[in-house]
Amino acid sequence: MLIKMRKTSDPLASEITSQSTYLNRRQFMAASSLTLAGASLLSAGSASALVMRDTSSSAARPEWLAKQILQAKDSPWGSDEVPAPYSAITNYNNFYEFGYDKDDPARYASKLITDPWSVKVEGACENPGTLSLEDLLKGIALEERIYRLRCVEAWSMVIPWIGFPLADLLKRFKPLSSAKYVQFQTLVDKSQMPEQRSRFALIDWPYQEALRMDEAMHPLTIMAVGLYGEILPNQNGAPLRLVVPWKYGFKSIKSIVGIRFTEQQPNTTWSDIAANEYGFYANVNPQVDHPRWSQAHERRLPSGLLAPNRIETRMFNGYGEEVASLYSGMDLKKFY
Ligand code: MTE
Repeated sequence: MLIKMRKTSDPLASEITSQSTYLNRRQFMAASSLTLAGASLLSAGSASALVMRDTSSSAARPEWLAKQILQAKDSPWGSDEVPAPYSAITNYNNFYEFGYDKDDPARYASKLITDPWSVKVEGACENPGTLSLEDLLKGIALEERIYRLRCVEAWSMVIPWIGFPLADLLKRFKPLSSAKYVQFQTLVDKSQMPEQRSRFALIDWPYQEALRMDEAMHPLTIMAVGLYGEILPNQNGAPLRLVVPWKYGFKSIKSIVGIRFTEQQPNTTWSDIAANEYGFYANVNPQVDHPRWSQAHERRLPSGLLAPNRIETRMFNGYGEEVASLYSGMDLKKFY
């Protein structure tokens, strides 16, 4: 990943909408959910209108998912955090399938077709198969998780995801006891993802990531389908993305179409590109610098030249109480 100078696309505090928008949205959502639960009065027309509001995507977005998202519950995780504004979260992205500048995903991902969508699950499990997104989310109770996302490039944001524990999904496929890792793959579709057509692409597509099984089953690890109470915008990884809040953001793979249980540690995109810079574990760790820059601090977005908002990076991105035990006895300087 490249560290770049500030571009005009980087959000400035002054450019960004206020939190009142979100609070209003939440009140509106609460009212809508009550209507849904009570008398199913939300008409197809009003649900679609709600989904289209605020998203930059012109692609079709399923109404059933919008309704499921509206019913998402609050969760205790991260409820004390103040999320970054919607416009910051959706205009400053890394999604290299759509380009390498931070505003490329917002510009080019909007037409990605995310409905229909299916996910193939294979490898060391009793119940492999291919599921539509709708089947995959059937019976799943969504919740809001407000998490810090710390990019390895030393910026961070607080993001109000709508999602569910990855463990709830993985258990359905009955992983074998021999399954020690789980690998994820992003869609490959050259017709929709411009960087996959490039002969000079750095990445050997598909983008892939993986977790150890105990990391994958940890209650903090979620699959996200929404953001700020709405369907996930394409630039943030619609329709289904991983979120692992104590690891550098590159582990949180977007637009997932494949899940594979493996016995050996699988290949992962950034370790394959530069293993000395991007480790398999990629736990946020202020004591282990990237070979080309310090990881001791981060720029909390939104920020600007006059208000750089530089804060200290916390071990495990501040989630140590929950996850440190996963790594007891491990030398985290070696297993970075
Ligand atoms: N997933 C895919 N498929 N392609 C990518 O380029 N970038 C990663 C991760 N997931 C990436 C990806 C990186 S480097 C980061 S920091 C986060 O997505 C950024 O997530 P955000 O754009 O929603 O903030």
